[in-house]
Amino acid sequence: MELNKIAVLGAGTMGQGIAWALAAAGKEVILFDIYPEYCERAVKSIAKSLAKQEEKGKVPAGTADAVTGRIQPTGEFEKMAEADFIIECVFEKMEIKKDVYTRLDAILKPDIIVATNTSSLSITEIAAITKRSDKVIGMHFFNPAQVMKLVEVIPAAQTSQETIDIVVEFSKAIGKTPVVVKEGPGFVVNRILLPGMNEAAFILNEGLASAEDIDTAMKLGAGWPMGPLTLCDLVGVDIALAVCETLFRETGDPKYRPAPPLKQLVRAGWLGMKTGKGFFEYNK
Ligand code: 3HC
Repeated sequence: MELNKIAVLGAGTMGQGIAWALAAAGKEVILFDIYPEYCERAVKSIAKSLAKQEEKGKVPAGTADAVTGRIQPTGEFEKMAEADFIIECVFEKMEIKKDVYTRLDAILKPDIIVATNTSSLSITEIAAITKRSDKVIGMHFFNPAQVMKLVEVIPAAQTSQETIDIVVEFSKAIGKTPVVVKEGPGFVVNRILLPGMNEAAFILNEGLASAEDIDTAMKLGAGWPMGPLTLCDLVGVDIALAVCETLFRETGDPKYRPAPPLKQLVRAGWLGMKTGKGFFEYNK
């Protein structure tokens, strides 16, 4: 099955990275957001990063134009009907997803697969909203999505084997390595990684070490490419909190209770790199 025109719904951090990864792999991308200015901002940001990489000789000259030329930003929902495959990365709230999936059902051809990049909601519950539940699946990318090689492929209870096979092949075709994971809170990576980030926030809260020293410890002592608190700022403190809350709620295990600094930062609106401040400060 030829999947050439891919619609990405949501131009936040993950939507931007996924659109970049797809366009870099030669796919035509329709990037939709209800706020079209987010799409424009995403394309500009990709162009800027790729222009820098061109200057440094990391990618061939012309890459920025070629990649961004394959991304069509839009605020028009009906454009989704033109796509061969949908990747949904809208805000992690079930009510918002319900609205989006109901509207997608009304305009998509019946054979179109919809993959959700959710990291914290039940894919089975999302699939149940739709009239195409056998064609709904989780496709979990990692931040920064244009760099990280893994895609977790998570079938819902209703997903057909044909859909799983197509999504595994598609993941490979865009240069990613897929692993198929049964649905469970946090899947594999977040189930292991988020408790580490949460524990770092507990250590900070207990005053055992400074944020800088916690990150240095894990980089130099455990070989992490970035410290857990910087990583939390990269993925978004709000996202990290949402994943911890899901792990806690779904398992009932107190080991997953979110650390106080995660809640406090979110309440203050300090969500990490995307807002210029989280555990650390960043030049926006
Ligand atoms: N935001 C976006 N992209 C970034 C970035 C950032 N803060 N930092 C680096 N990148 C991207 C850029 O494209 C950069 O290229 P450029 O510098 O030419 O623009 C490219 O990564 C490579 O960056 P570097 O040359 O600086 O390479 P590094 O060796 O420093 O690696 C890294 C950067 C790949 C981000 C590395 O630090 C890393 O692997 N960190 C861990 C990331 C990780 O664990 N991600 C998973 C998070 S969990 C998740 O996403 C799931 C979700 O559901 C919560």
